[in-house]
Amino acid sequence: MQNTEPGPKNYEIALYSFPEREHARLAYQTDNLEIQMSTSSVEATVKIQPEITPIPLMQLATAFWGFKTLATAVDMDLFTHLSSSPMSASELARWFNIEERPAEMLLTGCAGLGLLEKQDGRYRNTPLADTFLARSARYYFGGFVTMLNRRLYSGWDRLPDAVRTNKPTTWDPDKQKSLFEGADPAMMGTFWKAMHSLSIFTARALGEAVDFGGFRDLLDVGGGSGAFDIELCMRYPKLSATVYDLPFVTDIAAEKIAEAGLSDRIGTEPGDFFADPKFPTDHDVILLSMIMHDWSELDDRAILRKCYEALPKGGTVVISELLVSDDKTGPAPAALMSLNMLVETVGGRNYTPAEYSAWLNEVGFRDVRVVWFEAAGANGAVIGYKPK
Ligand SMILES: C[S@@+](CC[C@H](N)C(=O)[O-])C[C@H]1O[C@@H](n2cnc3c(N)ncnc32)[C@H](O)[C@@H]1O
Repeated sequence: MQNTEPGPKNYEIALYSFPEREHARLAYQTDNLEIQMSTSSVEATVKIQPEITPIPLMQLATAFWGFKTLATAVDMDLFTHLSSSPMSASELARWFNIEERPAEMLLTGCAGLGLLEKQDGRYRNTPLADTFLARSARYYFGGFVTMLNRRLYSGWDRLPDAVRTNKPTTWDPDKQKSLFEGADPAMMGTFWKAMHSLSIFTARALGEAVDFGGFRDLLDVGGGSGAFDIELCMRYPKLSATVYDLPFVTDIAAEKIAEAGLSDRIGTEPGDFFADPKFPTDHDVILLSMIMHDWSELDDRAILRKCYEALPKGGTVVISELLVSDDKTGPAPAALMSLNMLVETVGGRNYTPAEYSAWLNEVGFRDVRVVWFEAAGANGAVIGYKPK
């Protein structure tokens, strides 16, 4: 295969087993590809638009190499070690009691992925790794990487089953009540640690994009570890909050809130948003972060109805999610999170602003608007107001 013309790429392919007919010629052209074949020269020319190469496919197909490199390094707590002392390959090999060959390959891989840089023969964290992958970091992201590695990687390996059966692959709906209830406690511990590390920086982005300064008291429905409450209360000194979640989860939240020194402003309310006829009242804003995508449209509308009833006149509901575009063509992070809901839930998926707007209007909210931002766990918030 060789490039025969300057300028636009023109690939020429010699066909050694072309049929014997002389001067046979095949020309095929689409917008992106032109193929011409001639038996007289027993060769074919494939013209391809210069910007079309298989490199994006290589990147997609080998994305798991990058992920597994990151996950292995996180599992070994490599970035925590390197944050205090940069190391050469031989020093790292001694530290982990491994051979130098894999030590060097792992360090080179992490450097290639933009997680490490090399100076004077030693590898150190890049700002990205130092900010999000050293265990003591405020916005530690490693918990989410660990959950992807230990739980979702094998679940996604069975994505074809999920597509064929429309059932989750990470748990058995015949044996468990939901993704969140009845699972192995160790795995669930990993799950909420993961949620915290995904949500804490997402909460920061939400707090920057949406002004919570005018609110007095937030109810965080399905608030998990309390990541949003902690981050928003730190940013808005007049805000108080309540994490409303299943009883064993509010225990996890209470610990995180105490660690952040915010127990005087953030409370917990054990409950069940399906079984409880009403949500706690006396809150002027309700947050639903990564709740709606766990459930079916029917369940979500029931949750939104209870939000509406619990809010005072003029109250606000904020749905924070990775929103799929109204025409359902992406964006990739939201569309792939939606597939993750196929692997993880019975009826959930990532919804569009148009879908949320319709349901919010249906239960009585008005002036529905979307605020876009960029974060790992959300790309926007759909906000509705209960009329005064
Ligand atoms: C994907 S997590 C989102 C957690 C949190 N909002 C965040 O963004 O970090 C979903 C949360 O919904 C909670 N949840 C699930 N079923 C619930 C129920 N029936 N009642 C209350 N909370 C529930 C789970 O315990 C979990 O904390």
